[in-house]
Amino acid sequence: MAKETRKRKEDHIRISLNQKIQARKITTGFEDIYFVHKALPEIDKQKIDLSTTVFNHKFAAPLIVGAITGGTLEAAKINATIAEVVEELGLGMGVGSQRAAIEDKKLEKSFAIARKRAPTAFLIANIGGVQLAHGYGLKEVKKAIEMIDADAIAIHLNPVQEAVQPEGQKNFKRVLEKIGEITEEIDKPVIAKETGAGIAAEEARKLEAAGVKGIDVSGAGGTSFAAVEYHRTKRKAESFQRTLGDVFWDWGIPTAVSIVEASQTVKIPIIASGGIRDGVDMAKALTLGASLTSLSQPVLQAAVKGVKETKDMLSLLIEELRNSMFLVGAGYVQALRNVPLVITGKTAEWLKIRGFNVEGYARKGKG
Ligand SMILES: Cc1cc2nc3c(=O)[nH]c(=O)nc-3n(C[C@H](O)[C@H](O)[C@H](O)COP(=O)(O)O)c2cc1C
Repeated sequence: MAKETRKRKEDHIRISLNQKIQARKITTGFEDIYFVHKALPEIDKQKIDLSTTVFNHKFAAPLIVGAITGGTLEAAKINATIAEVVEELGLGMGVGSQRAAIEDKKLEKSFAIARKRAPTAFLIANIGGVQLAHGYGLKEVKKAIEMIDADAIAIHLNPVQEAVQPEGQKNFKRVLEKIGEITEEIDKPVIAKETGAGIAAEEARKLEAAGVKGIDVSGAGGTSFAAVEYHRTKRKAESFQRTLGDVFWDWGIPTAVSIVEASQTVKIPIIASGGIRDGVDMAKALTLGASLTSLSQPVLQAAVKGVKETKDMLSLLIEELRNSMFLVGAGYVQALRNVPLVITGKTAEWLKIRGFNVEGYARKGKG
């Protein structure tokens, strides 16, 4: 079992690095959203304060690296690299699903290395929601947290992946109830996290009621796990599974839509992820209502190259965010909430049809 999980993790990394696994037809929706440029920003770009406090932790910038990996030798290196960089930059990171190490103690090191390299950064443990409905409980959750001395734990929801994966766990009954049992017993923040298909208002509301302290929407438009599973199948022998992966490649709620669905529905912090690729996307996500932004696949690409590449990449994102804030006259992160945003096209249509306030964003800052 542990061996199987490990092999799957290796496959995921290899495929994520070498194959096309980004959404093909569906987009994040950020391309429909525009800032209203300010010719008179009336602030000093160099004095912009990017720091923000979320989950009682001060981040130097509203950016974390999303869950990627653990459980293999290569994964340990990747986690070490990312950890070193987020420590230096004052950011946070999530480790990948810790199931393999919960099943096989030898693999713990590949996750624990993150805390070794990042003694003060915000670290997020990771466990599957569907595992909670199939035998995992408080013991496993505590183990995952202790393994990396985590500041929070993400419970990932990945029904698309499980549905198309041949060996996937397809019974998602009672996942919500189990999440509720965990939040009652754990004193660290529990974050409910999708893995690339987004979280709708209805689920956000249920998750908040179940006691989760944050929601990582991980919407559609970036990495597609149906695509990853598509590439895992063998061309001829598994045409059935391959077709499933192909058909569900672009399934999900676009990230920008999901941020609005969640943030207009619940009061807990929203983490924006899924296809965030530059600092302008980050600024838009924060203006829509997210408290933190996160990305995974591009960081994986940089992390296999090294610490310098990863640091350069994350530093550039932060600089792009600073630039966006400058051009809309936002001197600090929370000020983005009062900046006008024009939502057009299919993103506006979707939100209006679902009953969300779209015009409110455009009128911000008008007094
Ligand atoms: C190789 C790889 C492995 C991943 N493994 C996990 C995981 O174990 N747990 C999890 O919650 N999300 C996992 N994710 C999903 C990411 O955390 C993120 O939600 C998703 O990739 C969308 O973000 P992106 O478009 O920036 O990559 C993984 C992503 C990648 C690329």
